[in-house]
Amino acid sequence: MIRTKVLGLGSYVPDRIVKNEEIAFLNDQHVRQDTKQTETDDEWIQRRTGIAERRYVQNDGSVATSDLALQAAKRALADANLEAKDIDCIILGTLSPDIHFPGTAVFLQHKLGISQAGCACFDIRQQCSGFVYGLQMADAFIKTGMYKRILLVGAELHSHSLDFTTRGRDVMVLFGDGAGAMILGPMETDDPKAGVMYTSAHADGSGAMSLYLKIFQIANLPYVDYDARNRDENQTMYPQMDGKRVFLNAVRGMVMSTQAALEKTGLTWDDIQWFVPHQANLRINEKVAEVAKIPEAKILNSIQFYGNTTAATVPLTIDHWRQQGKVKRGDRILSSVFGSGFTWGATIFTL
Ligand code: UT7
Repeated sequence: MIRTKVLGLGSYVPDRIVKNEEIAFLNDQHVRQDTKQTETDDEWIQRRTGIAERRYVQNDGSVATSDLALQAAKRALADANLEAKDIDCIILGTLSPDIHFPGTAVFLQHKLGISQAGCACFDIRQQCSGFVYGLQMADAFIKTGMYKRILLVGAELHSHSLDFTTRGRDVMVLFGDGAGAMILGPMETDDPKAGVMYTSAHADGSGAMSLYLKIFQIANLPYVDYDARNRDENQTMYPQMDGKRVFLNAVRGMVMSTQAALEKTGLTWDDIQWFVPHQANLRINEKVAEVAKIPEAKILNSIQFYGNTTAATVPLTIDHWRQQGKVKRGDRILSSVFGSGFTWGATIFTL
């Protein structure tokens, strides 16, 4: 039987660390000012979200989402002992694409130097659930023999589309830039627990406008009708969130998908080394752990260091803790995610 194997893992975050203390003083060019630009502080952010710092790209126009994806992809390829030319399919999850179209996966393909070979490129738009949705796609492609070396990337450049004023503080303090990548390929085995054991993906479109970023409205003519530099007009440029509704649905979706993953596979927490939840808010993850009775020692978080990097959080968190020596090859991981859409899901796989 053909099953999907994780061949490599890599992640990348930009060098600039923005601590909670600094974020309140940044202007919209990410330059520290003498006076507070946003009414927020370290105490509020830590207590409500668990975030201490996040990473931002340099603000000189030289870095796009595909560049973050490229660095993570190179590290995952090196980890898999493969070269870019070995890849026959790219699946890229992002809510911060380089441009509106074409998708960011083709920019990544070109930057990897493999555009001549013409491999398939998919962009997926499942926001914080992008990694699990992408893994489900990759798993199906590999099991059917459609592709043999899939590069799955979650990459986000959030820092350019955040509102650095009190108006946008509920969302602005949460997000950071970063990328995580995985290489997946087939293996022949009779072990039903080997490799990618389980994936589930769900959505509830009635929650679509509880967390969204419009930028434009294609129904209107012209479809962009505000002055992006006018603060009284430009709220459409920034993400909007009904935080409490998202929070409650996130806890419910992640608990349900975690419990379903265990029920459907017949596994218990004794069979699983690590629980890696999406990193949106430490309080969400603590609540999920409490309700789903997840052993505390098995929970991995990285939101303290990176904030919410949306589609990148799961591979970034796993790679972070692998670099710290905690996660090892052969460990079995249960991951559950929730994001804008609403979308959610879970996966169980062996690293
Ligand atoms: O990746 C998936 C998508 N995202 C999520 O899952 C996020 C889900 N939601 C959340 O994490 C939380 O709802 C937030 C962290 C966004 C907000 O926490 P909360 O405990 O729900 O706070 P709140 O929205 O009820 O706001 C409480 C107060 C408000 O002030 P008033 O009305 O009580 O005077 C806010 O204006 O906190 C204020 N506030 C802030 N104060 C300081 C909101 N953001 C900030 C801030 N700094 N950054």
